[in-house]
Amino acid sequence: MSTTLTILKPDTVAAGNAGKVLALLEEKGFTLRALKVVHLTEDQAKAFYAVHSEKGFYGSLVKFMTEGPVMPAVLERDDAVPYLREVMGATDVSKAAEGTVRALYGTSIERNAIHGSDSAENATLETAFFFSTSELIAAR
Ligand code: RTP
Ligand code: MG
Repeated sequence: MSTTLTILKPDTVAAGNAGKVLALLEEKGFTLRALKVVHLTEDQAKAFYAVHSEKGFYGSLVKFMTEGPVMPAVLERDDAVPYLREVMGATDVSKAAEGTVRALYGTSIERNAIHGSDSAENATLETAFFFSTSELIAAR
């Protein structure tokens, strides 16, 4: 078993789709190991997506990620990192495969409903970004 870090983005939480997305992830075989609701500050959103700081969409992405509460979660499953990326669908909602979270609940390339770690190394770093050791006991 392995874990990955997801974030239900502000569009998902505001639209009342968080429960439906979590249910879909559970149907796909993921077990919830940690979950919280947080409203990111500008500094936190900038730090989380620092890898994109040189991109043209960075400012808009930070604004989007801070517009309302998000729900970070640790998900466990075999091949958690690549499988979550598959279940999420393509970044651009118009290119996301049918039945994926982004095809079902996203509305644009930016407002695409969900984040997922892109490597095991980043899953570890991103998990530590949101969850303390004591919050992760169930994830061990
Ligand atoms: P994420 O990191 O959120 O899981 O998304 P991703 O790997 O599929 O895509 P990434 O390239 O890492 O981009 C991070 C997020 O930035 C927004 N974005 N906007 N306007 C644009 O061209 C654009 N490109 C990316 C999306 O919210 C994307 O998920
Ligand atoms: Mg990414």
